[in-house]
Amino acid sequence: MRKSMFVVLLFSAGCLLAQDLKPVSLPPPQTDGGRPLMRVLKERKTTRDFAPDKLPPQLLSNLLWAAFGVNRPDGKRTAPSAVNWQEIDIYVATAEGLFLYNAKGNRLEPVLAQDIRHATGTQSFVATAPLNLVYVADLSKVRSGTDTELFTAADAGFISQNVYLFCASENLATVVRGSIDRVALAKTMKLRPQQKIILAQTVGYPKK
Ligand SMILES: Cc1cc2nc3c(=O)[nH]c(=O)nc-3n(C[C@H](O)[C@H](O)[C@H](O)COP(=O)(O)O)c2cc1C
Repeated sequence: MRKSMFVVLLFSAGCLLAQDLKPVSLPPPQTDGGRPLMRVLKERKTTRDFAPDKLPPQLLSNLLWAAFGVNRPDGKRTAPSAVNWQEIDIYVATAEGLFLYNAKGNRLEPVLAQDIRHATGTQSFVATAPLNLVYVADLSKVRSGTDTELFTAADAGFISQNVYLFCASENLATVVRGSIDRVALAKTMKLRPQQKIILAQTVGYPKK
């Protein structure tokens, strides 16, 4: 087979795969309920042992809304962001593929029809836990200055803490992770040069 034909075939296969993955509409988040804040703070913790079971759609919707959903009519969010940049995108890596959380549309946009969970961190549990969130700063939304790195890191930290508190409220296991091969993961996720991986966070049911 000629090399050019091989490249065309490979490219077509890639496109087909991407098309196979459909946007996932999430059920409206349940924004009432949960356990009392002081109780949740008492129980917030890092856990690194995950059962492989998937999270049901309602729980996933609630989790993502708690993380960085829209909580006011003016489009502002459940976590603060410097200058209201809202520059942190949440990528959602599951066994089905890689998605981007669209907070306004309350849906998951397909990115890659590939299980890339193993590439989201250096620790073995990332490959089998049902959900890995990757917090990516979109620097095209940020006015660059000396504090850019500090602010994008802080903004991702607020989101991570929201996820920690939601997990404590719902008896889920979670760990935020800085130990990531960022160059390799950015390549796997096909990120643009203006996108910077800040942190990742694994979520799932605790292993019994
Ligand atoms: C910025 C940041 C990066 C972290 N990176 C990792 C990591 O790569 N792997 C990991 O297992 N835990 C990681 N952790 C979790 C910490 O180890 C954990 O929060 C700490 O041991 C305190 O435990 P606690 O969360 O239960 O209070 C990280 C925490 C933070 C805040």
